[in-house]
Amino acid sequence: MTVLYKPKPLTETPTDCVVEDIPAGTFRVNRAALADEAVFRDETRAIFERCWLYVGHESEIPEPGDFRARDVGDRPLVLWHGHDGVRRVFYNSCRHRGALVCRVPEGNTRSMSCFYHAWTYGSTGALNGLPGQEGYGPTFDRAGMGLHSPAKVDSYRGFVFACFDPGAVDLRTYLAGAAAYIDLVADQAEAMEITPGAHEYSADANWKLFVENSMDGYHLLPVHTTYFEYLEKVEGVRPNPGSLDEGIDLGNGHAAVKLRGPWARPVARWTPVLGEQNRERVEAAYAELVRKHGPERADLIGRVDRNVLIFPNLIILDLMGVVVRTITPTAAGHTKITQWSLATAGEDADMRARRLENFITFQGPGGFATPDDLEALEACQAGYRTGAGVPWSDISRGMHREHSGQSCGSSDERQMRAFWRRWQKLMSAR
Ligand code: FES
Ligand SMILES: [Fe+2]
Repeated sequence: MTVLYKPKPLTETPTDCVVEDIPAGTFRVNRAALADEAVFRDETRAIFERCWLYVGHESEIPEPGDFRARDVGDRPLVLWHGHDGVRRVFYNSCRHRGALVCRVPEGNTRSMSCFYHAWTYGSTGALNGLPGQEGYGPTFDRAGMGLHSPAKVDSYRGFVFACFDPGAVDLRTYLAGAAAYIDLVADQAEAMEITPGAHEYSADANWKLFVENSMDGYHLLPVHTTYFEYLEKVEGVRPNPGSLDEGIDLGNGHAAVKLRGPWARPVARWTPVLGEQNRERVEAAYAELVRKHGPERADLIGRVDRNVLIFPNLIILDLMGVVVRTITPTAAGHTKITQWSLATAGEDADMRARRLENFITFQGPGGFATPDDLEALEACQAGYRTGAGVPWSDISRGMHREHSGQSCGSSDERQMRAFWRRWQKLMSAR
């Protein structure tokens, strides 16, 4: 039996949180990891201050001056396209006394003026002006008082990440096997863009429950019955559980589930939900994928569905359309979710409308999937109030397959174990 993570005495739950017992075929997670505030505080330092975190997509700030304010790992940041053509990420905190410099979620501007004492920063982050500079005397280092940036900032295929740890590995190394899954998204069209607007919601559940849920093939049929009934009624399709086929460990805590769903894919699979008038468009988009990438990769890009986790909190749902989702913990038992639709850039207006309709119908906060998922996650969190009475959650589905070298299905829990193993490693290394 291997004890994988033992919280330091700081926590009042002196239990071993992740315990994998290969001979017994069990993988257990102590529920303190999901409910204890001390564990939650440890995670901030051990995970969110160490890992590369998703900030936004380059397509969100196409023009010089464009910006987006984002809370990333609960730190306020600004993603800003400089007038020198460089996209940068800054901490959203004034160098003077710390006020948020940017207090609107998005826009376009040459400069931002802090509302407290009016220090003004240009789009390269430089401190361009301040009232009464002479009050600081001749040694005042204005050039050294620009906005600060996180220790590391980089992008991969349009996805911009930041890391607060100067000692972290580079982004490409960090992404490990997940990079190929980002490629499958980025290769869906000549260019992809985040559509305007976002879904924002929250729930009384630990952030790791959202991570698990986003890669949980096992819950699909019991929880999403209503959606599948709707699909059958409207589109005449029903998922075949046998086609839910793979759970994958992508290294460094990243993971994916792969399946072949029956639903519409705007670049590859037409169904009535996309409208008769778009049938040719979808077929042409798929033909273009085949021309560019060959039939095998085109099939993989366009007709295989997948949910991908980029550890710790970015999910890419590459299903009917593409949904980019961030999971932000705010307390042991509370989490904020933001999700965007990533679409073919410049696509036809009717196609875009249908894609967004699909996005809101399934993934939206009032759609067929999300409320049912939240109900399940909040029920788990409520169950953790049993405390030490029922201390362990079980994540061992498919252990026997995983450890005998067989592939696991998406309704196995291999992908979650990949997440938890990485979690324990980072938590133990604090
Ligand atoms: S806090 Fe920003 S100008 Fe004083
Ligand atoms: Fe779900």
